[in-house]
Amino acid sequence: MFDIPLIRAVIDDNVKQRVMDVLDSGFLTEGPVTRELEERMAAYVGARHALAATSCTTGLELGLRALGVGPGHEVVVPAYTYPATAAAARIVGARPVIVDVDPETMLMDMDALEAALSPATRAVIPVSLFGNPVDHARLDALKERHGFAVVEDAACTLGAQYAGARVGARADVTVFSLHPRKFITSGEGGIVTTESDALADAMRSYKHFGMRCEDGQLDSLEFVGPGTNYKLSNVLAAIALGQMDRVDELLAERLALAATYRELLAGIPAGADIRLPRTTPGGVHSYQTFCVLLANRDAVRERMRARGVEAQIGSYDIAAQPAFQGRDCTIVGDCRNAARAAAQCLALPLFHGMTRAQQQRVVEELLAAAQA
Ligand SMILES: Cc1ncc(COP(=O)(O)O)c(C=O)c1O
Repeated sequence: MFDIPLIRAVIDDNVKQRVMDVLDSGFLTEGPVTRELEERMAAYVGARHALAATSCTTGLELGLRALGVGPGHEVVVPAYTYPATAAAARIVGARPVIVDVDPETMLMDMDALEAALSPATRAVIPVSLFGNPVDHARLDALKERHGFAVVEDAACTLGAQYAGARVGARADVTVFSLHPRKFITSGEGGIVTTESDALADAMRSYKHFGMRCEDGQLDSLEFVGPGTNYKLSNVLAAIALGQMDRVDELLAERLALAATYRELLAGIPAGADIRLPRTTPGGVHSYQTFCVLLANRDAVRERMRARGVEAQIGSYDIAAQPAFQGRDCTIVGDCRNAARAAAQCLALPLFHGMTRAQQQRVVEELLAAAQA
């Protein structure tokens, strides 16, 4: 146990009551509470449709399948991300094409994306990492020219904005995670959003065993295509719904905590070599994760953890992971920026109810460890 945890799920009386109501109802599988969560999420991000899934990973798969991505197709993904991004492409039988990221934002390098496009490119999965949205303007210009589909991996980016609109309606499909490291969590779960009626029906059908689905309505008497079970139970939906009741307050608190970190870090001595990643121009970061970049990250992380502060690595250089070095994946170039991000990025604690004194302690421990 840490004195100062990385994140703490918000499980208040309202969340508990919502879960108890589901348990008392006896309706434990996916049902009306899941639908309510979907409606709330669609309204929140400003998308026409939202579908619940068992995780962000299965949500990415739903999006790719609905878009017809499969064997013979290439799907471009960034090298700095959680392995799930590339795994989703491989699950549908497509070839992940892994490209480097921008050194300042740690998000997919749009020049590297452009260079990696081929006649086989069917989709791109840009990752809006840590709460920082991708450069949609540049992405849309490439999409217009090359005609690929975009499935945005916004696992950690609920509440972020790009060009004045919340992330969730601009890509063909956007997928959010409800894993407990996210500020809205159901334990495990995912939310898929889209503007397309046809894609929404195709995804709803697939996640319900291939049942006929028209205009969002399932027909349990007829199965019209391939499918599986990616339903999110009412019990889990109730947990996330209880947190969505406070989403504006919880997000505002995260932004205020991030601002306090920036203020505290502004006072650090110049020689300490602690840098902040850059937010995408036109974007509003939702600070799911507040991270810093520093050369001796591993030693700093160990020391902070030994002193009770749960600092954690940011994400992974998937180009360096054995799972993606087989002949069914393509790694473009040396992905050196992803390697640097994977070696240098450190996530700092940020949770509901965190005090200024706790943030000061985190920054003190960070400084002491960085200068040790
Ligand atoms: C960028 C990214 N994509 C996908 C995932 C996988 O999400 P899930 O655990 O909901 O499948 C994560 C998990 O943290 C992530 O960070």
